[in-house]
Amino acid sequence: MNKGSKILSFGHYQPSRVLTNHDLAQMVDTNDEWIQSRVGIKERRIADSETVADMAGFAAEKALAASGLTVEDIDLVVVATCSAADRSPNTACRVAAKLGIAAPAAFDLNTACSGFSYALATADHAIRAGAARSAIVIGVEKLSEITDWTDRSTAVIFGDAAGAAVLTAVGDDEEPGVGPVVWGSDPSEAIAIEGWRPYIVQEGQKVFRWATTQVPGIAIEACKRAGVEPSELGGFVPHQANLRIIEPIARKLGVNPDVVARDIVESGNTSAASIPLALSKMIERGEIKSGAPVLLVGFGGGLTYAGQVVRCP
Ligand code: UT7
Repeated sequence: MNKGSKILSFGHYQPSRVLTNHDLAQMVDTNDEWIQSRVGIKERRIADSETVADMAGFAAEKALAASGLTVEDIDLVVVATCSAADRSPNTACRVAAKLGIAAPAAFDLNTACSGFSYALATADHAIRAGAARSAIVIGVEKLSEITDWTDRSTAVIFGDAAGAAVLTAVGDDEEPGVGPVVWGSDPSEAIAIEGWRPYIVQEGQKVFRWATTQVPGIAIEACKRAGVEPSELGGFVPHQANLRIIEPIARKLGVNPDVVARDIVESGNTSAASIPLALSKMIERGEIKSGAPVLLVGFGGGLTYAGQVVRCP
């Protein structure tokens, strides 16, 4: 048994190919003004030859290099994704092989856009239980492969990316850096990627209403369980679904607007990758102080949700 875990580092990867709103306007009946005012996105990245496992591996490599640990230390790899093309081997095993991690417990988890928070909680629980000592947790998506590029209601929203974190058990004299998770589901077909029609479809307004009414309560509960007031947060990183969802929630919570993640503007909605991607970039830019409490809240397909307060490396 361990007292808890802490995050040592983050890493992220985005493909180099940029798809702007103007590019999309050549492909479907849309325009930059609609996309920016309704969703807040200016551009997104689209993978070319990179697979889900490639992107996950690149992000994990960066996080591991920044962690001070080596492949020998890692005994658990958890990958959150809803866009892996293959059922087996799972992406986590492929990432372990790419990085040369010898024999970790390795599994994928699919809760769509809440995936990273679910995976982080699962790895934290494994470390607390003594079933693992150090873990790599990855959120990765290649949504471009499951986007219907003739459907303007979804084609303008999604992007490809990966984000990763390295976790390790805390010592007896340290406080845990991953706070208690608030997680659950509200089963609905409002967002679906089904085998017979392998494209993302969503009832946008239904999900919008659900997110704006349910996420604030989840966020407040995660803060309460961590013993942190929302006004004390050094970072707020909700799933990057829509600026019109993110900003009212931040206002409702009373979070300092300067510490709210708005990576959707340059990356679109990257589902399970959006939280670690946004947080990794904020840390890289020096926007989040080391040790600051940061609230993560994932929500999406299922419908599922998960949130927790973490201490940043
Ligand atoms: O990541 C998982 C969680 N997902 C979410 O949280 C998504 C939540 N939902 C949303 O963010 C928003 O509902 C969307 C961004 C998906 C859509 O925005 P909306 O403001 O709800 O638009 P809408 O679907 O109500 O469509 C409004 C109008 C419609 O035209 P009419 O019927 O008013 O004439 C659409 O046909 O906008 C039209 N429209 C577009 N116009 C230009 C829909 N897509 C586009 C487009 N370009 N790309």
